[in-house]
Amino acid sequence: MKKSSIYLVLLSAAVVLLSACSSGKSDGKYEIADGIIKTVVPERPEGQKDVVGLRLPPMDSVRVGFIGLGMRGPDAVRRYSNIDRTSIKALCDKHADRVERAQNILTDNGRPAAAEYVGDSAWMELCQRPDIDLVYICTDWNNHVPMAVYAMEQGKNVAVEVPAAQNLDECWQLVNTAEKMQKHCMMLENCVYDFFELTTLNMAQQGLFGDILHVEGSYIHNLEDFWNEYEGNWRLDFNEKHRGDVYATHGMGPAAQLVNLHRGNKMNYLVAMDSKALTGPKMVERQGRKSENFQNGDHTMTMIMTENGQTMHIQHDVMNPRPYSRMYQLTGTEGFANKYPFEGYAFRELRDSTVAPDHQNLSAHDFVPVEVKDALLQKYKHPIQIELEERAKEVGGHGGMDFIMDSRLVYCLLNGLPLDEDVYDAAEWSSLGELTRISLENNSAPVEVPDFTRGAWNKLKGYHHYMVGE
Ligand SMILES: NC(=O)c1ccc[n+]([C@@H]2O[C@H](COP(=O)([O-])OP(=O)(O)OC[C@H]3O[C@@H](n4cnc5c(N)ncnc54)[C@H](O)[C@@H]3O)[C@@H](O)[C@H]2O)c1
Repeated sequence: MKKSSIYLVLLSAAVVLLSACSSGKSDGKYEIADGIIKTVVPERPEGQKDVVGLRLPPMDSVRVGFIGLGMRGPDAVRRYSNIDRTSIKALCDKHADRVERAQNILTDNGRPAAAEYVGDSAWMELCQRPDIDLVYICTDWNNHVPMAVYAMEQGKNVAVEVPAAQNLDECWQLVNTAEKMQKHCMMLENCVYDFFELTTLNMAQQGLFGDILHVEGSYIHNLEDFWNEYEGNWRLDFNEKHRGDVYATHGMGPAAQLVNLHRGNKMNYLVAMDSKALTGPKMVERQGRKSENFQNGDHTMTMIMTENGQTMHIQHDVMNPRPYSRMYQLTGTEGFANKYPFEGYAFRELRDSTVAPDHQNLSAHDFVPVEVKDALLQKYKHPIQIELEERAKEVGGHGGMDFIMDSRLVYCLLNGLPLDEDVYDAAEWSSLGELTRISLENNSAPVEVPDFTRGAWNKLKGYHHYMVGE
């Protein structure tokens, strides 16, 4: 047999093997080519077009229906009660007492009572209401995509909690439905609106860090006190059954905006590595069950290469006694930013001496002094933060970032602007779940990150928050 024929035989065997490996985990099959694992990118259905920069007609008010009123949902109801030109039309949960509790939030905030939907499938009726513009989904992860897809099919815009989707098939369902219906589907990734992240993004966009080379993000949060609180134990069950970074979006969101994903850049491939699962099974045992085959490694790391030659590093650990951290770090040719465990900036040189009381002290090896950092945070405060900060601190929600997220969504809908986070962000950031699993199951082999825009990733040049008049 010739050398090339042997190679072909080996390659075909690898394709079959890898495809077989993926069966049962998701609908997505994958194959290996040129040393990289590639998942299937479904063709865009005929007559369908992308929703990059989607603009819909401006609205007089935003009429909302909420589904899922457990730990997270009620605070969203409270925040919306504090946003002008919104109207809360309907509330839905499996449990009547949770709907009741949310009704009380409306009353307490001087809002009229909303229609109530109780039970397993009452959410469908909520989605069918003609007087709703936005369906806001705060359920467990298993329900996100079925609800989001159905809501869009009923002609609604959708806001869905993180992660929007659990696997690639679900990511593609969101993308295809948003494109088919030409509707907004925003994942509620709130961490992109935290004050340090917003300001640092503004500084990056104004070139303070030079060319960005590397960004980091993570979700490091010991969930020990929370595992028993999730309805039906959905969260620990999911971790028990799924290997990979199943909750990547808090780290991904701010990092992705810094490197302009699908706004002139895209992720090309990733590799992942995880530690063994030791604490995970212990958490299951605490619930009185044995866990023979806990899938999610206690610590998962992912490295991503982008089209523009930048690297991204994402981590996940929800098991161990570490201080809370979303990492949030960027390295540029002229500067560096870091949020956890403490906020700081470092620069090769500080370009603007007007903000540096004592700039002689600066060196490329140190963080700038606190007063310089504070002056920078003031000077480069993001316009969105300038406008919303005071009210955000009053209303709250993770220190205010949740309020900014909701206010921006309402603002963009009222003014017919493209949203800050679109369906491709939702798919890209959520896709790490299954893509990292595939890499892990193949000895950390590189896995191609699909281009969810199917060719439109270079249409927009740079990440942008749209304002009235643009
Ligand atoms: N962005 C953030 O900072 C943040 C923080 C916490 C949670 N979350 C996300 O919010 C979502 C909800 O988390 P949680 O902690 O509130 O979970 P939870 O288990 O406390 O609440 C889920 C709620 O959904 C309801 N529900 C489930 N199936 C339903 C159905 N068929 N119809 C109607 N209601 C249904 C449940 O009854 C429950 O009240 C998750 O996606 C989670 O990842 C995000």
